[in-house]
Amino acid sequence: TTVAAMAISATAALADGETVGFSQIGSESGWRAAETTLTKSQAEERGYQLQFSDAQQKQENQIAALRSFIAQGVDAILLAPVVATGWDSVLQEAKEAEIPVVLLDRQVDSSDDLYLTAVGSNLVHEGEVAGGWLVNEVGDRECRIVELQGTTGSSPAIDRKTGFENAIKDHANLSIVRSQTGDFTRALGKEVMESFLQAENGGKDICALYAHNDDMAVGAIQAIKEAGLAPGKDILIVSIDGVPDIFQAMAAGEANATVELTPNMAGPAFDALKAYWADGTEPAKFIQTESKLFTQSDDPAGEYEARKGLGY
Ligand code: AHR
Repeated sequence: TTVAAMAISATAALADGETVGFSQIGSESGWRAAETTLTKSQAEERGYQLQFSDAQQKQENQIAALRSFIAQGVDAILLAPVVATGWDSVLQEAKEAEIPVVLLDRQVDSSDDLYLTAVGSNLVHEGEVAGGWLVNEVGDRECRIVELQGTTGSSPAIDRKTGFENAIKDHANLSIVRSQTGDFTRALGKEVMESFLQAENGGKDICALYAHNDDMAVGAIQAIKEAGLAPGKDILIVSIDGVPDIFQAMAAGEANATVELTPNMAGPAFDALKAYWADGTEPAKFIQTESKLFTQSDDPAGEYEARKGLGY
């Protein structure tokens, strides 16, 4: 076989590849952007045609994208659902069209026979890990906590809150004194943290910040510095994701801990789809990714370096 012939057959393999529609939430965070990059590259490596749709944070856009994928007759749909409720009808339509749907990173409250599988972390557990870290860190000290929640109605915002509350509930010295959404964005994380600081004696009455993602923590760090306090020291900071910027902040002593969420949800999703397409193999309904805690003692500068080029 000549090199030219090989090139032609590689192109043919690509052209014949399965078509997968991907309804992404948007690009609210560094983690989300990495998930998009990795999903595109994983699809390309496997020779799948990826139809990408950015919903700009709107569920109605996601529902419209799904309907358009169904009308096109794609071979599968990846859905990162912005909120947990309101998916029954469109998932039913996909099921009737015999198009397998794989949920990525967020959960829905629909019956699990409406989708093939869900790839994601145990979101309650993430909150418990973050809260457990703080409980150990503060010991017997009185600790007034402020919380930056993720997007209202999203499964990570609901579950990460529950998990953290579970972890602190038997420790009367720890209490959440303020809690508001920062919509998983850096800009709102900063803005809401400014209002927390103002309401809490310029921040002097705040012992710790729990942010449902690193991007909001990074925004809050800026607000804390501008208020003349030292993030990571005057106010302890624990968040979730493990994006490069939080490792950089940890290396500088400005953040204390993060719980890593892998942005490579597409790898396990495509593996499950491949087996399903081959012979109808049904994957487990939940494919769980790891949740690992990192603190300032875990070589954050090295972790920062290690994440370069991994989709970030
Ligand atoms: O659903 C996962 C969450 O969504 C990530 O933790 C957050 O950064 C993203 O926006």
